[in-house]
Amino acid sequence: MRTLHSLVAAAVAGTALLSAGTGVSTAWQDPATVSAPPAIEVVARKYAFEPARIEVTEGDRVRLVVRSADSVHGIQIKRFGVNKLLPRGGAPVTIEFTANRAGTFEILCSEYCGNGHESMKGTLVVVAKPSIHSFPAPER
Ligand code: CUA
Repeated sequence: MRTLHSLVAAAVAGTALLSAGTGVSTAWQDPATVSAPPAIEVVARKYAFEPARIEVTEGDRVRLVVRSADSVHGIQIKRFGVNKLLPRGGAPVTIEFTANRAGTFEILCSEYCGNGHESMKGTLVVVAKPSIHSFPAPER
């Protein structure tokens, strides 16, 4: 039975790894992070952010997990007080903020990283939360 047990354990471990690898956190979630918002993974590289456009809903707690794919970069979203250094070597940097205002906001690289630094930008779109108050009252 020991062999069978080992096989089952290996299969379970394999499934967990596969689930974690897809980036979809619905199937498996670390109990320690159950209350945390889902992470949005962002890669910074010369000279762009991937994805270039991040869309969230007004009022959302937003968690970005950002890493550099090459040299040092920075990530700045002025309206939400975000400004973090992204070290060389790819160590992930976690940023949390509340998207408490709808609109379109620039994501900037805040650390000089080469000739394309000034053009290294992304976009954060905060979609207004649907609400009965956002529709005009019917006219009579
Ligand atoms: Cu990337 Cu400056």
